[in-house]
Amino acid sequence: MREQLRTIEERALAELESAADEAALEAWRVRFLGRRGELSLALRGLGALPPEERPAVGQVANEVKQRLETAYTARRAALEEEAVARAFQAERVDVTLPGRIPALGRLHISTQTLREIYDIFTRMGFAIYETPEIETDELNFQLLNIPPHHPARDMWSTLYTDREGVLLRTHTSPGQIRLMREMCPAPIRAILPGKVYRYEQVSARYEFMLHQVEGLVVGKNIHMSDLKGVLEAFARQIFAGMRRWRFRGSYFPFTEPSMEMDIECVICGGPGCPVCKYSGWVEILGSGMVHPRVLENGGYDPAVYSGFAFGMGPERIAMLKYGINDIRYFFSNDPRFLAQFG
Ligand code: DAH
Repeated sequence: MREQLRTIEERALAELESAADEAALEAWRVRFLGRRGELSLALRGLGALPPEERPAVGQVANEVKQRLETAYTARRAALEEEAVARAFQAERVDVTLPGRIPALGRLHISTQTLREIYDIFTRMGFAIYETPEIETDELNFQLLNIPPHHPARDMWSTLYTDREGVLLRTHTSPGQIRLMREMCPAPIRAILPGKVYRYEQVSARYEFMLHQVEGLVVGKNIHMSDLKGVLEAFARQIFAGMRRWRFRGSYFPFTEPSMEMDIECVICGGPGCPVCKYSGWVEILGSGMVHPRVLENGGYDPAVYSGFAFGMGPERIAMLKYGINDIRYFFSNDPRFLAQFG
């Protein structure tokens, strides 16, 4: 029986060496140390021994059991250590590798252009004032001297809402009325930036949503020469002296007289292209002396006060600054386009 116990021990220790994982270790434990394991089975033979031999053999059996348990615990600890070491190795981080640079966001080209415009006008003493994108027909048209059914409405393809008399503003000009009504009778020198909406077939030249920056100056003794001076100072700064401009007589219902400012087309450099409609010039803004009826609608007495106004398109300006030949690039969110600015 001692012999049997010894061979069990030898075999058990040999097999323990090759138990390489948790499952094998558990199988080994059940097989040798379990309640129905080899050791327990062998000990059942103890009763068949002569009584005087039993204590000595029992003691050997206990010693074997203890050695196996100690070996088992040691093996288990060794396996766990190996597992931890393996995990450390696998998850090792090489802190000397160069880092990955995360992609940085940047300001949209329209926002950048708007901010340049803000800088130029605030340096000239203009305040910035924002008004709603959802407007009434009254403010967007009627109070700007465009009555219902007036043919000048064709100048703005309009997106109407389900609500009678409510629309998406087609220009920032209704802000003129809001601002005048709020400030009257104080003098005004402000720009009104924001988004405007048009019921437009989208093309290289037209978008259904774009930005505008309205300008409004109201006071005593304001003249056309003030308007020209401000617009020229603006053009010189925004194009850094790189583009020629011209003024051209025009018509807007809310200004009299009216004029537009053109910048030489840089897409084609003069001979003509789809962006400048083959004229060599691109209109960047409409302007004029505020119509007496509009001053009145704002609460100002046109016999005492006069003013000028203008409305420009920052996207148009950015196209001329950077030679962008299609306005659709601005809002189609292609990062290859947007990443070129800033
Ligand atoms: N609101 C005009 C448009 O969207 C632009 C404009 C023209 C604004 C003349 C003005 C102005 O303030 O005086 O086409």
